Amino acid sequence: MSKTNRNTFVEDFVKRNGREPRVSITTFGCQMNEHDSEIVMGLLKERGYSKVEERGEADVAILNTCSVRENADKRFFGTLGQLKKLKEKNPAFITCVCGCMMQQQHIIDKLKTSYPWVDVIVGTHNIHTLPGLMDNLIEEKKRQLEILPEAVEMMEELPSQRLFKHKALVNIMYGCNNFCTYCIVPYTRGRERSRSPEHIIQEIRNLVADGVVEVMLLGQNVNSYRGAGEDGTWEFPRLLEAINEIEGLERIRFMTSHPKDMSDELISSFGKLDKLCKYVHLPVQAGSDKVLKKMNRRYKVSDYLKLIEKLRKTASEITISTDIIVGFPGETDEDFEGTLNLVETVRYDSAFTFLYSIRKDTPAEKFKDQVEESVKHERFNRLVEAVNKISAEKNCEYMGKTYKVLVDGFSKTNALSLSGRTDGFKLVNFPVPEGIDGERLIGKILDVKITEAKTFSLEGELV
Ligand code: SAH
Ligand code: SF4
Ligand code: F3S
Repeated sequence: MSKTNRNTFVEDFVKRNGREPRVSITTFGCQMNEHDSEIVMGLLKERGYSKVEERGEADVAILNTCSVRENADKRFFGTLGQLKKLKEKNPAFITCVCGCMMQQQHIIDKLKTSYPWVDVIVGTHNIHTLPGLMDNLIEEKKRQLEILPEAVEMMEELPSQRLFKHKALVNIMYGCNNFCTYCIVPYTRGRERSRSPEHIIQEIRNLVADGVVEVMLLGQNVNSYRGAGEDGTWEFPRLLEAINEIEGLERIRFMTSHPKDMSDELISSFGKLDKLCKYVHLPVQAGSDKVLKKMNRRYKVSDYLKLIEKLRKTASEITISTDIIVGFPGETDEDFEGTLNLVETVRYDSAFTFLYSIRKDTPAEKFKDQVEESVKHERFNRLVEAVNKISAEKNCEYMGKTYKVLVDGFSKTNALSLSGRTDGFKLVNFPVPEGIDGERLIGKILDVKITEAKTFSLEGELV
């Protein structure tokens, strides 16, 4: 317990209940949010709280929210309704909400007027103040609200309660300057800020010393990374090169890169750096130049296809995934055919497909020519079908071959199987060999021969 710094509330709680107060944290949205949740949990652990999966068993519930699409909003308010019931049963129950939705005034207004049982409200720029606000709540017995319009300082050396022992999420930059016309993120996460390369490298060294073999470098737009180093500004390829030198680290991934910033130098990193996984998530969003322009993506379909060509020329085995939005305002049948054509041309390993969702106060909200729901859905279904067919075909190419798999844990659907990822981020399940303790294989990179290909995963056996 050397790192524990219990406050009076926690001390009292332990005396009264004979156990530490339990926190459940529910995370919506992207990996940035996942990592924020890991940090909040790390901070609370230091104060003597423990983590619990079941919200019903918790003393504190935290909802870390996402506002990228309307669905995420709806799920949040649904979950909040469930928390009210827990609060009614136990008035000492603490409810905290944080994350991207809290950076939107209309959400704060709604919480203020209709959700009086919410105890702590904190935004994205000061998530690390959440534990202190919980202390204030307990002391002052009144709601705590702290939202900053922009980040004031770059927080370093925050603890993190990692989901996995062997792999870690590492923020390298925050925010986004791109203002794609459909997207809320620039408003919820503020302007781009890059961490210093020295801080990032030190953090990864510490992680490796703690058993981490794979890092996922995070940012809304990692390839616009510009970190102030002691010897001047570092761009993303140089950062990758330095991370590649870290002894004991086996794999480097990053997410997300924007096509407009996918430089030749970055592409060449895939050929040069042995630890850089041959996998890239390169969101295209649409396959029509007209739509891309209206989205403010700042590339044309032909530019994007050139990037794919270069990536495959540099690393022929590279796997590629993407994000696609269907039904953006003004999307015609012809525009949509362009998206289908692009999918057929690139042949993605996987693609995340989204129905366009109107976001308050974004430019696209005001676009007049919104696409009818039924048309959106019909296009969406056609796209998913095309994407899945290609994913399944691509996976078939893995049959009979052997790949290095980093074992993440037991399979979610079969307790007798382990699952992990190839270098190219393919999900592989394989049975635990007889007489072997599966637990001991977690975190290891093992050779697995693929015996069956499915649409979203591969089955194999240890060799
Ligand atoms: N920064 C990343 C993506 C962040 S959001 C990038 O630019 O690639 C993740 C994905 O959500 C986006 O790529 C986009 O496909 C989707 N998305 C964002 N806003 C959306 C909206 N209003 N409606 C539907 N999908 C949206
Ligand atoms: Fe949103 Fe575009 Fe920024 Fe990605 S690059 S977070 S889609 S504004
Ligand atoms: Fe959602 Fe915020 Fe991430 S809006 S996608 S949690 S940056």
